[in-house]
Amino acid sequence: MNDLDFVIALHRTETHALGFIPKPTIRDRFIAPGNYVLIRDRHGHRRGYLIHAPPRPGLPCRIHQACVEADYRLRGFAAAAVATIARRATVADATELLLHCATDLPAIAFWQSIGFAFRTWNVGGRTRQRVLAELFLPLQTAAIPARAFATW
Ligand SMILES: CC(C)(COP(=O)(O)OP(=O)(O)OC[C@H]1O[C@@H](n2cnc3c(N)ncnc32)[C@H](O)[C@@H]1OP(=O)(O)O)[C@@H](O)C(=O)NCCC(=O)NCCS
Repeated sequence: MNDLDFVIALHRTETHALGFIPKPTIRDRFIAPGNYVLIRDRHGHRRGYLIHAPPRPGLPCRIHQACVEADYRLRGFAAAAVATIARRATVADATELLLHCATDLPAIAFWQSIGFAFRTWNVGGRTRQRVLAELFLPLQTAAIPARAFATW
């Protein structure tokens, strides 16, 4: 299985938490240009992914999706992957990491625990009508735990 097929397969297991992105979009916007971080366990097996916008100087860099296989959560994998994106974005002189997350998801606690702050709330999606929080992490004062950086 290649990275694209892994991302598509894992993305399909979390339709409640992750917005649908068509396969050609995941391939062309994220995988082909390298705008993703693959999470691997200590045996080298793929266990999760994050996809993000290309970091640009003076602009926020948006994380579009983050997902770790259910049996591999709460081990620091996603925090370490966010740290990798934070480093990429800092090198590119982006201002902050930015994302949207439905407020009814447990993932809200994840983003907060690695230092993201709430900026605003919107009602999102015609079907689901969820409240979506916009969260951000200023890059100059990135509060991602040092242990997350140490693993990458
Ligand atoms: C959100 C997600 C990516 C987190 O991945 P993870 O690898 O388990 O996260 P980590 O182990 O790196 O957690 C880092 C910190 O967040 C906390 N955290 C993670 N998930 C949490 C949860 N569900 N509830 C409370 N805290 C949580 C951890 O306890 C840890 O805090 P600590 O450093 O104080 O111990 C994962 O739960 C997931 O894939 N969820 C389903 C998809 C999803 O909701 N994606 C996000 C949509 S916005």
